[in-house]
Formats: sequence, C-alpha cells, structure tokens
Amino acid sequence: NLIMKSSQTIGVLVPNIGNPFFSTFIKGIQETARELQYIPLIFGANHDEKIENYYLEKMIERATGGLIIASASITIATIDSILKKNGIPYLLMDQNPIVEGDRVQTNDFSGGELAAQHLLDLGHKHFAVTIPNNPTANLLGRLNGFRYAIERAGLVFAQAVTVIYSPMTKAGGYLATQDVLKSSATGVFAINDEMAIGLYRGMMQNNVRIPTDISIMGYDNIDLDEYVTPKLTTVQQPILAMGEMATRLLVNRIKKPMMTPQKVDLPVSLVVRQSTSAPR
Ligand code: RIB
Repeated sequence: NLIMKSSQTIGVLVPNIGNPFFSTFIKGIQETARELQYIPLIFGANHDEKIENYYLEKMIERATGGLIIASASITIATIDSILKKNGIPYLLMDQNPIVEGDRVQTNDFSGGELAAQHLLDLGHKHFAVTIPNNPTANLLGRLNGFRYAIERAGLVFAQAVTVIYSPMTKAGGYLATQDVLKSSATGVFAINDEMAIGLYRGMMQNNVRIPTDISIMGYDNIDLDEYVTPKLTTVQQPILAMGEMATRLLVNRIKKPMMTPQKVDLPVSLVVRQSTSAPR
C-alpha cells in the first residue's frame, strides 16, 4: 500500500549534484537502494543551510525512512531538533563533520599525505595547494596530511607551500591560475579533481605545459580524469563503494534502530597518471 511504499524511501542530501564525485556517489546509493528495495530522493543543497533545512522538513513530511547526509550545514542542533525528535535514522559522511552515530569514512589525512609524498618523491620542493575558503573538516584533513608529509621531509610548510583559496569547482580552479603562477610552485595539489581540471584550462591559456612546466594533481578519481590531457594524477576515493556502504548502513539502521553505531573505513590510494613529473 501507499504508506508502506513511502517508508521505503531514503533521503540523500549532497552539497552539489553537478560535481561528478557526488553523481558517482549517488549512483552507488541508487544501485544498492534498488537491491534493498528502497527509492532514493536526492537533493543538492549547494551549501545553503536554509535550503537544506527546507528539504529536510519536506523529506520528513513524506515519511522518509532515513537520511544520508553528505553536506556540511546540517548541525547537531538540526539533528537533535528535527531528526532525533522525529525518530528518523540518519548517516553522516564526507563534508559533514559530526562523528556521532553511523558513519562511512575515508582517511583524508592520509590522502593528503599521499599527495605530498608523491610530489616530494618526484623531487618537488615548492608547492601550491588550492582549497576553498572555510574548508569543511574533510578538506582540512587533506591539507593537514599534506602539511605533515612536507614537514616530515624536513621542509618548512610556510616557506615550501603556498595555500591558495578559491571555490572547489572547475571555475574555482581556473580562477586560481594566476596565484599558482605567481607562487614559485612546481607541484600543485588541487583539493579535488574539478579544481585540477579548471587549472588545466588556465595553464593552457598561459602556455604552461603540464607536467613539463608544472605538475598538477587532484583528489577523488572522478571518471573525467582519464579523459583530460594529460590524464590526471590523483588520490582515489572509492566513490561508488562509499555510496553503496552508506546505503547498507542506513538500511541496517532503519531495520534495527537500537544497534550500536556502525563505522566503516574505506581506503584511499594514489593513482599516478600523466599530469605529474619531476620538476625542470
Ligand atoms: O569533489 C567533491 C569533493 O567534496 C570530494 O573530494 C568530496 O570528498 C567532497 O567533500
């Protein structure tokens, strides 16, 4: 009947559906939801707290069985006043920093460390990191891991690394081009692949060759990485598996509300392609 059907819904809140990371994540959710006979309702909230809360309310009115929240603006207060109060199971991950409850996580610190170590191993000594203003906790984890590896190599972070703030989008990467070129960086770590791809366009317009003149690497391993020239070196997140696992944990929780919190760690790994090489 109708009521049974609506309770077979799970709500998904992501920051940005246009980013291939989140579309692949959603694909993982969809596949697993279908297998478990749930229907996902997907919302992209673009970091707007008002819109997120609006969607949350609408999902709850529609008797959503549970929620996967990958966006940052859902706070403890919202969780307590809306989700807990209405007895709605939820799972937090990615940009959402709240660690209580069920969680699927990847080690962003070690991802950042892998990125720095790769550039160090190639012989780079001057670096730029492109990252958004007010980075979410997962992005800060990457930056901290990067810093850790730089300092472990005996370099002084503030001297060796220029941190460049720009939105975490293709346009943001493109906009960061001049600052990257002004810095003495020979190796660039873009905090996600989209930014790296935006930088590609800026470098091309300035006749700067990748990787001959500058090495660029990203983070995520979105499918575009193999279709840009040169193919993009990156740190892989198991994006499909993240969506799959989030769905499994949430459905477990819907079925057994009293279960102890479930935490799943998924691995990140370095994927070396053609956009990084030794500095000139
Ligand atoms: O590309 C989107 C980025 O934002 C990913 O790195 C993901 O982890 C998210 O936080």
